[in-house]
Amino acid sequence: MTTTLIKGGTVVSATGRVQADVLIEGDRIAGLLQPGTTSAGLGGLEQSVDRVIDATGKYVIPGGIDPHTHMQMPFGGTEACDTFETGTRAAAWGGTTTIIDFAIQRYGERVMDGLAQWHEWANGNCAIDYGFHQIIGGIDDDSLAVMRRLPEEGVTSFKLFMAYPGVFYSDDAQIFKAMQVGAETGLMTMMHAENGPVIDILAAQLADAGKLSPYYHGISRVWQMEEEATHRAIMLSDVTKAPLYIVHVSAKQAVAQVAAARSRGQNVFAETCPQYLYLSLEENLGAPGFEGAKWVCSTPLRSRAEEHQNELWRGLRTGELSLVSTDHCPFCFKGQKEMGKDDFRAIPNGIGSVEHRVDLLYQGVVEGRITVERWVELVSTTPARMFGLYGKKGVIAPGADADIVVYDPNGHTSIGMGKTHHMNMDHSAWEGFEIDGHVDTVLSRGKVIIDGNEYLGAKGDGQFLKRGLTQYLT
Ligand code: URP
Ligand code: ZN
Ligand code: ZN
Repeated sequence: MTTTLIKGGTVVSATGRVQADVLIEGDRIAGLLQPGTTSAGLGGLEQSVDRVIDATGKYVIPGGIDPHTHMQMPFGGTEACDTFETGTRAAAWGGTTTIIDFAIQRYGERVMDGLAQWHEWANGNCAIDYGFHQIIGGIDDDSLAVMRRLPEEGVTSFKLFMAYPGVFYSDDAQIFKAMQVGAETGLMTMMHAENGPVIDILAAQLADAGKLSPYYHGISRVWQMEEEATHRAIMLSDVTKAPLYIVHVSAKQAVAQVAAARSRGQNVFAETCPQYLYLSLEENLGAPGFEGAKWVCSTPLRSRAEEHQNELWRGLRTGELSLVSTDHCPFCFKGQKEMGKDDFRAIPNGIGSVEHRVDLLYQGVVEGRITVERWVELVSTTPARMFGLYGKKGVIAPGADADIVVYDPNGHTSIGMGKTHHMNMDHSAWEGFEIDGHVDTVLSRGKVIIDGNEYLGAKGDGQFLKRGLTQYLT
């Protein structure tokens, strides 16, 4: 069994930071030791371990958990351009050691067939551990019955869509029935909360008026339809008593709806994504020519973004928002985003960020918006607790998987022009971003997979994670 000692670092958890050395035996954490005791004490431990990682002056944090990715997702007439292989490798480079991806059941298909397909795509291809949520795109008696069996499969959450009519959309009656299953089983209902039918009318009217550039994607997806759908989902969850998790919140008005529900004591949770914390409708979607297509995603980037961003950061600080995922759904510019060059409605929706989430969120620490503990909570510990992985993942404690990131707060990461990232994309939505901080070393179940600027992982190292129910229910 390989033994590793990470010495001299500051171990940060959701509840505090301590100077401690971390001993790893095989794929698990064996213990946290008082700094300095290791070389002299415990029988010369430092001499006897196989590997010593010097983390002096650095943070030692649990590996990032990104609970919202779409590797190789068939969507928008094409498929997301990161495979499980390329996407999980890029995630590792950025300090993420677990993803939870979305298996899909479409209308007319069987739920378990969709899940089996995603297993086939992921199995043997991932660099890091992975789990699945289940998208239910066709709610009927059969899928409602099968959903009850998802916990046996280690899939303890399902996503529904109030958007994308004709693709994944469910109406209120269908949502209500699915939520009743959620209430009965403890499965978390994850909701894409935008009023799709109204948005589609607005989009068609803009297109008819010749307003066809990427900018109008954002104009069509008005914040009112995010607020309205968020409110509706919350009310349906209140009646059914289903736990509810709103995905990719971008509008400050939706944050207010989530906050109000939480203050009433409802089991309502929400995530936001880096794009909504940093990017805007005018500057990004409104970029010259067709460039704005790079930032077409739903929910969209917002106008007067600073107001929304400040509220999102405030929500992240106060707990109104629970965590930050990426909604990683990358499409290349050439041949994919270009599909919509004459009409924004044909641009595949999605942004690639899986490599940058830990770094981008760390900027909130640098800017004084969140503490270093809250950073760890947002990128690792809460995703683990929210989606039934805690104990194994999301914490540096004896017995937990040794998924660990050594993060250098004095390091620097440039997301420069050209291909300086590892995602399988021909561009980056984050080009030009200068990051204070650097992911130095990444361990996945005790194996060093990133060592400075070297990738040491391998396709197939990642294992499927059977998840338990959320820990956020009483
Ligand atoms: O634009 C997005 N968000 N694409 C991925 C699919 C989804 O709705 O999460
Ligand atoms: Zn969505
Ligand atoms: Zn998504």
